[in-house]
Amino acid sequence: MHFGEETFKKEVLSKIPPRNEPPLPPNWLHIEMLERFRVLQFVPIREGMNVLEIGCGAHALTTVPLAYLLGETGRVVAVDKSRWRFFEEVTSVTGVKHWIIPLKLDARELPFPFKAFDLAVLVHGIRSLKSEETMVKVISEMLRVAENVFIAESLPIANNERQRAHLELFLVKLHQHHRESLYLQSDPCTPLLQLQPERLLPL
Ligand SMILES: C[S@@+](CC[C@H](N)C(=O)[O-])C[C@H]1O[C@@H](n2cnc3c(N)ncnc32)[C@H](O)[C@@H]1O
Repeated sequence: MHFGEETFKKEVLSKIPPRNEPPLPPNWLHIEMLERFRVLQFVPIREGMNVLEIGCGAHALTTVPLAYLLGETGRVVAVDKSRWRFFEEVTSVTGVKHWIIPLKLDARELPFPFKAFDLAVLVHGIRSLKSEETMVKVISEMLRVAENVFIAESLPIANNERQRAHLELFLVKLHQHHRESLYLQSDPCTPLLQLQPERLLPL
């Protein structure tokens, strides 16, 4: 069963205390997490699934709504190579900590020898993968270990014109290579990629 937005606000977001991190507004984490909850509505999530999240980040912004949607019979293996500062605090206070397994790893090389996950997700993390080579390695690893892959990235996804052109080129190239298996969401605010590994050619 998928829970609605109002229930998510009541059951999860309301448990997160306001933050004192000016110039950000006190409810910035709530706003960001609600955006991730909306992004995850595009993913065919079922309760009890075993999901790998790449680049979960310090605040578990995607991890919490993902875990909530999977329910306590589900699992999120949350991977990040470095940023964990508030992860424990946020997952504890929201009540989803016990079905999340945090792993400090570089996602360019994942330690899973076979397809161990129903789904792998990367939400608003493409921008943090430093080079095209890293993007290709990380996405290839996600495809190797999961049945399905879901990637979302928001705009603007780059800090300057050069980065923007680079990322656009990469996404267009990816789309050209995998036209039939790549689903590109037309919403200009949140382009979403869904990859079906069985139809992908090697990158
Ligand atoms: C923009 S942040 C957090 C995105 C988060 N999923 C969200 O919803 O906001 C992306 C994260 O990816 C992590 N990251 C970057 N390269 C990585 C890699 N090679 N392996 C694992 N994590 C990586 C960074 O440490 C950072 O915490």
